Amino acid sequence: MTESHDQPPVAVLTPRSNFNNWISAIGAVLAVGALFSFALLTWMDFTGDHKNPYLGIFTYIVAPGFLIAGLAIAFFGAWAQRRWAIKHAATMPDKWRLDVSNPAQRRYLILLSVGGVVFLLLSTFGSYQTYHYAESTQFCGEVCHQAMNPEFSTYQRGGHARVDCVECHVGSGVEAFIKAKINGTHQLIAYTLDNYNRPIGTPVKNLRPARETCEKCHWPEKFLGNLDVTFDHSLSDKKNTPYSVRMLMRVNTGRPGSPLGGIHWHVSPDSSVEYYAADAQRQDIVWMRVTNKKDGSAKIFRNEEFKGEPPAGLVRVMDCIDCHNRPAHVFPTANDAVEHALALGTLTNKLPNIKRTAVQAMVQKDITTAAAAPAKIADFIKAKYADNPEAPAAIAEVQKIYAVTIFPERKADWRVYPNNIGHKDWPGCFRCHDDKHKTAAGETVRASDCTSCHTIISQGKGAELGVLSASGMEFKHPGGEYDQDLQCADCHNGGIQGK
Ligand code: HEC
Ligand code: HEC
Ligand code: HEC
Ligand code: HEC
Ligand code: HEC
Ligand code: HEC
Repeated sequence: MTESHDQPPVAVLTPRSNFNNWISAIGAVLAVGALFSFALLTWMDFTGDHKNPYLGIFTYIVAPGFLIAGLAIAFFGAWAQRRWAIKHAATMPDKWRLDVSNPAQRRYLILLSVGGVVFLLLSTFGSYQTYHYAESTQFCGEVCHQAMNPEFSTYQRGGHARVDCVECHVGSGVEAFIKAKINGTHQLIAYTLDNYNRPIGTPVKNLRPARETCEKCHWPEKFLGNLDVTFDHSLSDKKNTPYSVRMLMRVNTGRPGSPLGGIHWHVSPDSSVEYYAADAQRQDIVWMRVTNKKDGSAKIFRNEEFKGEPPAGLVRVMDCIDCHNRPAHVFPTANDAVEHALALGTLTNKLPNIKRTAVQAMVQKDITTAAAAPAKIADFIKAKYADNPEAPAAIAEVQKIYAVTIFPERKADWRVYPNNIGHKDWPGCFRCHDDKHKTAAGETVRASDCTSCHTIISQGKGAELGVLSASGMEFKHPGGEYDQDLQCADCHNGGIQGK
């Protein structure tokens, strides 16, 4: 074959892509950076041992947002380039094109590449920092300070103050994970728009299954036998008489490792307790079923008013949260908070009736904002003690107690967040253990027997507490005899009893 060169070689004009232009190049850098961040965040999210819903905002909203913006810019560049080329076909169709052979443009290109690399590094670093920040307790508790303030202050006082919010609030199964993600995003948006509920509604419906969260740290094999607990009170009398009751709680029978009995029997692997509550707060339990998983037999208890069957989908299997519904955020009652201060000595017991006065000062109906509380509390207490020298310190202490107990703006306190662990100020265990739920054969869930859950080993004040009874004593009610048909919570409501 001869090589004929009669004709000059034709420059093969491959039509240049419309994407070859400066605007698209910048868009591309942005998109690549975002894609990289997205990949990194997703990877960290799936491999990290903590799962955090708020990270979802960055991973699934912010990073893709930048990706979409970058792509949009790139496409816009191509479109603009094409329009330009058509309009200016005769004069200067390539105005926006990248041209490596042009030295001036080459410098800009280098600049763009360096900028691109820096951007990539920054977004990597930024994603990493964001990741760690979003899973910190500080982020949950303080960034959402105003919204979460009650939960954060109650949390700091609880037994779980060193456990991160995400340990309990975010799941590890894929489903729980995605749910938490969507929910976390939704919550942050609600917070930003200031349209979250006050109080934040409970029970929290999308909480992780308790068995997965709680049992990571508290496994059933480890549950104790008896737990020795003392409740310190002060009576509403002139002397603010101290009164304590010390009891052994039958958390489990036998030694750790033996089959669950006693109080933790409800979460034993051999049986299950299901229930149906007629109200959203799960306080009015009307139906329950106990299933023996070994032989499959079941017992159904109903209260007198409830005749039918519970609606499908609303039957709940009892787990840790049905009793420990306030493991991290105990909103103490005004009564308990004041008694606690008296027991610690931070609130003086030298002022006559200070127990009652302090509680009354805290629950005044016309306190509607946290800012208004100190003055109202001061006025109320001053009116009772005129110029008693102990009064100013007591006022300061009650103001302090108020600030961490009642959150008027959020409408958050014990009155909306019942604690189900006992039965004094809320129905708690007596929601079911009330002798009123019966099987068809008339069997009840024991309640009248005060020793099935605990044994009182001493009660009273001072020297009386030195006398211990191994066989248990009958409860001496400081408020005197009362009608046995009443439940404790019919009178005790966390404020002032009896009137
Ligand atoms: C030991 C586990 C645990 C930890 C740690 C924890 N929570 Fe909770 N939290 C719960 C449970 C359980 C509930 C649900 C209570 C209910 O449904 O009645 C809850 C409820 C809430 C609620 C709903 C309102 C309320 O008081 O019931 C908010 C808001 C909340 N938690 C925020 C936080 C924040 C912020 C942190 C970290 C500062 C945190 N939680 C740490 C277990 C935990
Ligand atoms: C990351 C580990 C962790 C998780 C998850 C966890 N806890 Fe705890 N829990 C602790 C620690 C630590 C203590 C404190 C132990 C102590 O005081 O000796 C504690 C204490 C407790 C106590 C007794 C003391 C108190 O003041 O409350 C109860 C009850 C309890 N946890 C229940 C729960 C429940 C219910 C859950 C699930 C919602 C849960 N925990 C989840 C670590 C955890
Ligand atoms: C029927 C109600 C009920 C259920 C269900 C329940 N608990 Fe308890 N638990 C109690 C009571 C009551 C105590 C005694 C402490 C008290 O009175 O505060 C207790 C005590 C504890 C303690 C404290 C022991 C200690 O050494 O301080 C832990 C931890 C605990 N429970 C974890 C759990 C976990 C985890 C689950 C779920 C697997 C669970 N509980 C289910 C009622 C319950
Ligand atoms: C949702 C209803 C419900 C709630 C709430 C509830 N229980 Fe029970 N409990 C039952 C049922 C049902 C039984 C089994 C009764 C039977 O089989 O005779 C039971 C049995 C018990 C037993 C006997 C266990 C054994 O060894 O046989 C104890 C102790 C107990 N509960 C303590 C408590 C305590 C403490 C609380 C509150 C912290 C509580 N329960 C809350 C339904 C409930
Ligand atoms: C179903 C189980 C159960 C039964 C039945 C029961 N209790 Fe309790 N009781 C509890 C639990 C759980 C607590 C602990 C609450 C806590 O940890 O805050 C408690 C706490 C108490 C306290 C201390 C409360 C405080 O704040 O000082 C007294 C007093 C008490 N019970 C008396 C009684 C009497 C009297 C009866 C019989 C009418 C009775 N209990 C029956 C589970 C039970
Ligand atoms: C008929 C209403 C009524 C019933 C029902 C009732 N109490 Fe009381 N209780 C009172 C009164 C009134 C006082 C005295 C008020 C005071 O001195 O603060 C009191 C005082 C107390 C105190 C000491 C002070 C305090 O407020 O903490 C305890 C603890 C107590 N009761 C526990 C119980 C328990 C547990 C039950 C259920 C087994 C119960 N009470 C049932 C009315 C009642």
